[in-house]
Amino acid sequence: MKAIDRALNSGIATPFYLYDVRLLEDTLSEIRRSIGDRPVKVHYAVKANGTTGILRIISREGFGADCVSGGEIEAAVHAGFRPADIFFAGVGKTDSEIELGLRQGIGCFNVESLEELRIIASIAESCGIKAPVALRINPNIDAHTHHYITTGLEENKFGISADDMEEGVRICMDNAWLKLRGLHFHIGSQITTMEPFMILCERINGYQERLDSIGVKLEFVNVGGGLGIDYDNPEENTIPPFQAYFDALMSHIRLREGQTLHCELGRSVVAQCGSLISRVVLVKKGKEKNFAVLDAGMNDLLRPALYGAHHKIVNLSSPDAPMEKYDVVGPVCESSDCFGIDEMLPRLRRGDYVAILSAGAYGQSMASTYNMRPLPRSFFL
Ligand code: LLP
Repeated sequence: MKAIDRALNSGIATPFYLYDVRLLEDTLSEIRRSIGDRPVKVHYAVKANGTTGILRIISREGFGADCVSGGEIEAAVHAGFRPADIFFAGVGKTDSEIELGLRQGIGCFNVESLEELRIIASIAESCGIKAPVALRINPNIDAHTHHYITTGLEENKFGISADDMEEGVRICMDNAWLKLRGLHFHIGSQITTMEPFMILCERINGYQERLDSIGVKLEFVNVGGGLGIDYDNPEENTIPPFQAYFDALMSHIRLREGQTLHCELGRSVVAQCGSLISRVVLVKKGKEKNFAVLDAGMNDLLRPALYGAHHKIVNLSSPDAPMEKYDVVGPVCESSDCFGIDEMLPRLRRGDYVAILSAGAYGQSMASTYNMRPLPRSFFL
């Protein structure tokens, strides 16, 4: 039986997320193979997809977790990540989230401001637990991606200005409740050329020289996430170019003796293993257009409405039907609830199944109950 038929025969209601476990495992193996024996550690960015089934597979493979909320820390611990392999980032960690991180014994807080550094120190002192920290430095690099997902520019809210790096280091040195472990960076997401990563590494080399001159040694430098995937040809490019990515990083970064390079890949790990499966509610003949109205909407997959992103759409029920042109839309009461304009697809009829591809990252994790619609479920193949 075809894999997709197994899901459809299981009786699960559409829309639902379908995950190809084999592809996820192959992707994880390719990451490990591309790293080889180089001193690189990957923390999976849980925000991309925090479904328990996905987290379990990734934790089993020995990856760490990059979390941005108390909820993500709890989900990561629950899915089997070792607390020491859990890092906690985010510009607005609340006191209770910081305390949770400390009590769980997480490996590092990625600190986004000098203000936050002092807050973490005082909570660490009141808990009697030393806080491991890395300073997130804003390197002011343009990642040339969608402005909503560009994070490494000075105009963005993220990170400590590079001018304040030495002061951040001093605060750590002067406070017995802080242990400085590394530097952290993240310049943006869905980056499809290696150049921004290379520029980042060169920039980090400069920061490390400044730290050398004041005698500071760090365990790791963390370059964040951001490696993009191919949304246009997902069936040909199922696995992102990890080899080129790690080669670009390792040939440009100058690690110090015993230092490790960390990265926080999210999208590139899980995007291609997930599809949103939906049914055609009806095909509406408009004056100028045909609308294929799906039972999946922007509440299930927000990326097209929020970023104007396009995910490839496939007619699963009759792939060989003659091609026709459709606007593929959802049922939600917003004009932005649209998955594709002027899409050429094999003729769609009421009841047909479609797959919206490359939806494993920032799909289910960004779903909402807008219009009081239920959250989409997941099915693992
Ligand atoms: N590390 C940090 C500090 C981050 O902010 C992010 C993503 C990552 C790692 C993982 O980046 P990735 O490898 O997945 O590119 N919702 C948007 C993407 C937002 C990314 C936010 N930060 C989308 O659907 O395109």
